[in-house]
Amino acid sequence: MLSRRLHTILPSTKLHAKIRFIGRRSIFATNLNQNHNNPLGLPKNNTRIPPQIPRKGPIGGGLPPKQKIPNVKHVVLVSSCKGGIGKSTISVNLAVSLSLLNLSQLRRLRVGILDLDVFGPSVPTLMGLRGVEEPGLMKTGALIPITNHGIPTMSMAYLLPPSQGVSSEGDAEPTNEDTPVVWRGLMVQKAVQQLLFQTDWSAFEGGQSGGPGLDVLVVDLPPGTGDIPLSVSQLVDVNSTIIITTADILSLSDVRRGVAMFQKLEMPITGLVVNNSYFICENDGCGMKHHLYGHDINNNQSGFHKGVRAMGLGGNKIVGELPLVADVGRGAERGIPYALGGVNQTVGAGKLWKDAMKGVAERVWAEIVSVGERRM
Ligand SMILES: Nc1ncnc2c1ncn2[C@@H]1O[C@H](COP(=O)(O)OP(=O)(O)OP(=O)(O)O)[C@@H](O)[C@H]1O
Ligand SMILES: [Mg+2]
Repeated sequence: MLSRRLHTILPSTKLHAKIRFIGRRSIFATNLNQNHNNPLGLPKNNTRIPPQIPRKGPIGGGLPPKQKIPNVKHVVLVSSCKGGIGKSTISVNLAVSLSLLNLSQLRRLRVGILDLDVFGPSVPTLMGLRGVEEPGLMKTGALIPITNHGIPTMSMAYLLPPSQGVSSEGDAEPTNEDTPVVWRGLMVQKAVQQLLFQTDWSAFEGGQSGGPGLDVLVVDLPPGTGDIPLSVSQLVDVNSTIIITTADILSLSDVRRGVAMFQKLEMPITGLVVNNSYFICENDGCGMKHHLYGHDINNNQSGFHKGVRAMGLGGNKIVGELPLVADVGRGAERGIPYALGGVNQTVGAGKLWKDAMKGVAERVWAEIVSVGERRM
């Protein structure tokens, strides 16, 4: 009877209901055998097989081939599965450090930043561009990047109206960075494609085109292995990927998922950057080093090292270890990337941070050169 009534409520499911009486308690066990896959699109049978990454179909259908971003020679992705771990801070400082590299060529690298964290853009704040006017358009409709500190940038935040809500900076006027983006997949895809392929990196503010474009575009990705990192990996020719982690096993287990995604997509992974790995006490010349997560990542026998080795990246894939430095955070708030220089960078943690960041930039550039040679 009960079973028949439930059938009328859920007519599209085959319902097997069992009622067992144990003393005065009744246990109602249902076994819903649905005709359709579950609403998340996961396979009904064999739940041990994870959802597959869509691949290019054999004929016609499937994904379009990977493209070059117009006026950009090389693309570097900055990613992590974990949020709030320092991706955006490292993206802008990596861009600055790349542009400051002393290469044997006669000129410095031209570097730009693309903020693809559509739901939580922070590049405008980090680059001192919070609340700027929306970007100009070329006659072709392409977006003109907005430049500060000599680095052109593009971000979803520039395209949003100022928020009607509260500013993330306390009493200050809310800006477009505070506007929430409440979008579903397709709209996000469209925005990502526009930011990727319809920004004119050869354009100057004022609307002229025909500049030399960029040697390197650093892309700040949102956390996780969602739509955006997946689309970028499938749509764009990428030369280097760096993955940010902290020095703890929990973070590594998240990062492992990102690494697995990039490995599956055959992306060049330059390596891991361990952020906030340690802190140097600078009280009264103390100088003591504290491993913030309890792991000395330079110890080959540590659980952290074992975790990194288990990812199967091969070789020395820890390409940088950055200390926690309060001025890095302060610089971020003021819109001045720490790598641009300033106080306290000739000694102590400031120097260690800056040297490590420069080391990451050198490894990224070396990877770009070697990937370029391999593809020739
Ligand atoms: N090495 C560092 N020393 C001190 N502060 C740091 C360091 N790295 C990052 N921070 C601070 O940590 C906070 C989070 O950094 P950030 O916004 O770059 O993380 P995120 O991974 O991009 O976050 P989200 O996932 O929200 O995009 C910021 O306040 C930043 O200033
Ligand atoms: Mg971020």
